[in-house]
Amino acid sequence: MTDPSAESVPVTVVDGHERTELAVEPGRTLRRALLDAGLSPYAAATRRLNCGGRGVCATCGVRIREGPPPDHWHDRLAARFGYPRLSCQVTVDRPMTVELVDKRVWGPRERDGDD
Ligand code: FES
Repeated sequence: MTDPSAESVPVTVVDGHERTELAVEPGRTLRRALLDAGLSPYAAATRRLNCGGRGVCATCGVRIREGPPPDHWHDRLAARFGYPRLSCQVTVDRPMTVELVDKRVWGPRERDGDD
């Protein structure tokens, strides 16, 4: 029998003073992994009003402290200029540490949202 923990990638999520350790199936997007864990990257208004992970609405941003280099055009700009990267454009393929950020334009971030 296969050990499921050997087939997961550790992701540390920092949300204010809280740290959550996730075990994520390799290949999932960071957005999906966060939502599945009840750690929404969205603000209140964008929880329902987002592009569904297509990389066009720029509402799913998180700060990546350790993780993969950017490969989406928005992600490259975000990394270069220091604003949050799109969690929907980050594939979980290695251990990473991400920080959820408070959203100011579209209201406070949903802390218990699932979509
Ligand atoms: S969900 Fe729209 S850019 Fe990520």
